Amino acid sequence: MAGHTQFGSRAVVLVTLLLSSLLPFSLAANTTIPSSSITFDDDHVKLAVNVPEGSEKADLYFTFEAPAKDHNWAGFGMGTQMDNSLIFVVYRSKDNQGEPTLSPRIGNQHQMPIFTNKVNTTILQGSEVTDDKFIVNFHCMGCRSWDEGEVDATSTSAPFFYALGPEEQGNLQSDDKEFRINRHELHSDIFPLDMKAATGTNGVPVIGSAGDNASTGDDDSDDDDFGGSPRYGGSRGVAFHAFFMSFAFILVFPGGYLFLRLFERVWLHWGIQSFGVLLVFLGVGSGIAVSIREQISPKLTHPHQIIGILTFIVVLTTWTLGLIGHIMFKRKGIPSPIMKFHRIAGPSSITLGFINACIGLAWVGRRGAIIGYIIFSLLVAIVVGSLVMMKNKRKRRRAAMNSSAAQNFREGTTAYSHVRGDSIQGHGPANFAAPPPAYGQSVPLQTFESQPLRTEYYNVQPNK
Ligand code: HEM
Ligand code: HEM
Repeated sequence: MAGHTQFGSRAVVLVTLLLSSLLPFSLAANTTIPSSSITFDDDHVKLAVNVPEGSEKADLYFTFEAPAKDHNWAGFGMGTQMDNSLIFVVYRSKDNQGEPTLSPRIGNQHQMPIFTNKVNTTILQGSEVTDDKFIVNFHCMGCRSWDEGEVDATSTSAPFFYALGPEEQGNLQSDDKEFRINRHELHSDIFPLDMKAATGTNGVPVIGSAGDNASTGDDDSDDDDFGGSPRYGGSRGVAFHAFFMSFAFILVFPGGYLFLRLFERVWLHWGIQSFGVLLVFLGVGSGIAVSIREQISPKLTHPHQIIGILTFIVVLTTWTLGLIGHIMFKRKGIPSPIMKFHRIAGPSSITLGFINACIGLAWVGRRGAIIGYIIFSLLVAIVVGSLVMMKNKRKRRRAAMNSSAAQNFREGTTAYSHVRGDSIQGHGPANFAAPPPAYGQSVPLQTFESQPLRTEYYNVQPNK
């Protein structure tokens, strides 16, 4: 009998438990969960928020979907800029099974967002990482304000943004919420979500459901419009770096070459190229500084950094060879063989700089800017090339005019016309009263081919 009663009370408890666990689902199934969502088709990103009404803990529910194939992490943040925003980063868990790792972090302009334990997140059903996608549904407690900022739950356009990590670190799998993630490959502009429309019954938002206030976003994630502040990763340091480098390689060095060929003044070439070297020095300095300070590949192992340092070495070598070669020329009065290497190293350093600028632009995800950069470089090459060619042509013509052969010819025709009383356009003398002045002497003919096709170093006077 006692056994019966015990069995009966156990059954009641079980049924009650079962019912109580099913209740929220049956309620949820019948209640629409209000949400606001946004879909970015090109980047394959979706984000939706639900704002529980009257939540004392200031909770929020989110669903976030992002591409996992070419990105080792994905994240979204609340705020008008990276700095001090509350960011949720997702990446594959250590065993890469089921749910992803969800890491709440506080954004920082100069380094990776730092993990925060001040907000509590619970991953909910339906979260997973496949080969293609991260999907995370979660409940965030105490998420409407944090030490550094807050989100206005009554706003109709609360600011959000997302970012996607790079591909290189593709095997990022960790359960560690503080895992150091690599810099993002791209980020969105700030976009709004209507918190007011998302307020009501709590639950995981369902994008496209009856209660969802859906919108679509513009994927233009290529510019610096990040709430007016410098975008993360495109910081002022990076901008200075890119300016020094691009200016040096695209204008100063080609300009130094052009001026040498146009004006044939070594001191002008020396001055301009030395200024270029100074710019490259500042560019490499700022490049290394931002790499370390902003934790952008701080061990300098990215191909852009390696090729950049190599380019710097080639630039310094070019400069040193130019200087030593020129000093030797001034001392001995004959062109130094060192100059041959300078003439190879010079164009090589300019080419390396051009290639590395394109790699740098690709690294920051500005693929569109690469085309502009290539077009501008081509224009510079065409202008410099044509000016040098024009100058060479004029020089050859002048050299031919001043050659002994030309002089002889001029003198000869003058002699003939003098003898024949003819014009210089006459076609040869019928009778010679006197031989032409150079007759019987060997004339040092300078043929067109034997003229150097461009100004050689020995044409540049040591004192210039
Ligand atoms: C030939 C030399 C180099 C050139 C022409 C060059 C040029 C560039 C350019 C155009 C960018 C894109 C910046 C932007 O659009 O925001 C860039 C980014 C960058 N460069 Fe360089 N760079 C060179 C060498 C270096 C070196 C030696 C380092 C460091 C060791 C370096 C570190 C960086 C870093 C950290 C970024 C930012 C990457 C990011 O935000 O993901 N660069 N560089
Ligand atoms: C990194 C800095 C420099 C770069 C990128 C550079 C680049 C060049 C280039 C591309 C040429 C080849 C011209 C041609 O083939 O027609 C050249 C020639 C020359 N450079 Fe430089 N140069 C640099 C620094 C210097 C310096 C510091 C001097 C020393 C005064 C110098 C002296 C010369 C001279 C005298 C020539 C003529 C060589 C010849 O005609 O054989 N260069 N330079």
